Amino acid sequence: MCGIVGYVGNKPVVPLIIEGLRRLEYRGYDSAGIAVGSPRSDLELRRAPGKLRNLEEVIREHPLHGTFGIGHTRWATHGRPTEENAHPHRDCSGRLVVVHNGIVENYLALKHELITEGHKFVTETDTEIIAHLIEQELSSAAESGKTMPLEEAVRRAARRLTGAYAIGVISADDPDKIVAARNGPPAVIGLGEGEYFVASDVPGILHHTRDLYFLADGDVAILTKAGVQLTNLAGEHVERPVQRILWDPIQAEKSGYKHFMLKEIFEQPRAIRDTTLGRISLDTGKVYLSEMKITEDDFRNATKINIAACGTSWHAATAGKFMIERLARVPVEVDYASEYRYRDPIADPSALGLLITQSGETADTIAAQREMVAKGMKTIAICNVVGAMIAREAHGTIYTHAGPEIGVASTKAFTAQLVALFLFAVHLAQKRETISTEESSRLLESLSLLPGKVEEILRTVDSVCEQLAKTYSTARDFLFLGRGIHYPIALEGALKLKEISYIHAEGYPAGEMKHGPNALIDETLPVVVLATKDNDNRDSRLRYEKTLSNIQEVTARSGKVIAVAIEGDEEIKQLVDHVLYVPSAPELLLPVLEVVPLQLLAYHIAVRRGCDVDQPRNLAKSVTVE
Ligand code: F6R
Repeated sequence: MCGIVGYVGNKPVVPLIIEGLRRLEYRGYDSAGIAVGSPRSDLELRRAPGKLRNLEEVIREHPLHGTFGIGHTRWATHGRPTEENAHPHRDCSGRLVVVHNGIVENYLALKHELITEGHKFVTETDTEIIAHLIEQELSSAAESGKTMPLEEAVRRAARRLTGAYAIGVISADDPDKIVAARNGPPAVIGLGEGEYFVASDVPGILHHTRDLYFLADGDVAILTKAGVQLTNLAGEHVERPVQRILWDPIQAEKSGYKHFMLKEIFEQPRAIRDTTLGRISLDTGKVYLSEMKITEDDFRNATKINIAACGTSWHAATAGKFMIERLARVPVEVDYASEYRYRDPIADPSALGLLITQSGETADTIAAQREMVAKGMKTIAICNVVGAMIAREAHGTIYTHAGPEIGVASTKAFTAQLVALFLFAVHLAQKRETISTEESSRLLESLSLLPGKVEEILRTVDSVCEQLAKTYSTARDFLFLGRGIHYPIALEGALKLKEISYIHAEGYPAGEMKHGPNALIDETLPVVVLATKDNDNRDSRLRYEKTLSNIQEVTARSGKVIAVAIEGDEEIKQLVDHVLYVPSAPELLLPVLEVVPLQLLAYHIAVRRGCDVDQPRNLAKSVTVE
């Protein structure tokens, strides 16, 4: 996730772009940059690491002016959050610049090819190659004595990209023009009177116009002072309807959702897709984790995996233990990061340390990582923020490309962590030869279907959870039950509910109920039970049968049961009060699906109770104290 704003028209371009970027800062704040030009001058660039205010400071000291321009606020994916890696990025001549939101999957291959042709790269980003590809098209046209319009060069370059992109391009040689293209990440075009805008999202331009085109995948927009032309990548004209936006600006920042948390719940299909993008091959059944500086031998000879994390990330870690042990057949120990270093752990230098963290700045997790390193272990981070402390100190990082998470309660970062852990487990299993190519191909195929399945859950279950909230928002306590890999999801469901609705909730392994907690059950206690199953997996079917018995233990004591089950499971309907259905998936991937109804249930209950969903009392997004 990054934010793009571009403008061509008669107003002062710099303040307009900066104001738009401020409204898109929720999309990323690792660095910001702007490039402007005019028919009489070269392009001028200003960039700064960190938040937008740093860029504003640079502009105050070194002002710039122009009649057209593009700006960018970055959420780093490839390359550290430095000034050098900040967008816009230039070609070799410096006469054209590109801003980009997304991930170019084949950037290494393209970079290699361009370097062979003599192109020089100055950043670690995937975006820079787009500028060079466009330059390559323009120069080869020039060499054969032709002039190629910027849009044609952009279309040709875009056809060579695989992955996801929304781009904005300007050139000193084709002034008062912006070319934008989209494949994946959103891009909107704003239509004014003699002025036109491009942005990653509506709030970036809503103060100037309410009439927009939403670009579709494969669309290219050419913006000049005379108007906007839309084409496909082949250069053929396309039509898009003009849409009038009636949201107020605050609503627009949340893309029309009432809260950031709900928006982020609905972003999960994209977050899962981006976390997988470029890392799996369905043809070879292989997982590629290029960010790993751990040797093949480290993977092969690891005696144990020690995971440390906090809160929601600890729940992901606990689910990850099932994935890693089942696929890579190596023992996994999971610690609360806050406990790890105080228990004088018996660390084995040939064990691998794994730190899971959305922010990468959690003090307890940093302390656990340092303890691991002090004991001679190599560490790997699963982290959502490029260049964060834990990623910097790790020997390798698997970034979860969830994009910035603003709601304090973690949602999309959690599902992205589960996906990253699954990728790690398959990768490790391949290195240790504990998985066949057939099995990994089958699992990766199922992984690639998850975004569509989450979309289906969001479509079907949201309104059911809203209804359930009417009945259960006055409950004093809640229980969440699950077995096996579903137990950490029960813990996560309970945490989501308690942190945003302030209802007391506990997660429990379903089989443990009879050893004490059954005493709590009466007709006032809602019990959410994870009762999904993978029909192709004998252990999963067995677990399901045992879970049904646990459900009966609850209903026999008049507890109210809300079950999460697999679509088509009619049997369970007879046993429980309510069912939240999710599509089927292999056992190890079911957690990614079944947590979504739990997030929605917690959300709707909190809203009904009038709680501050995005900023619950007493909590902070990133906990930098021990
Ligand atoms: C709960 C939540 C927290 C975090 C925890 C660790 O919704 O978000 O429990 O998971 O504070 O934070 P990170 O993952 O940033 O290390």
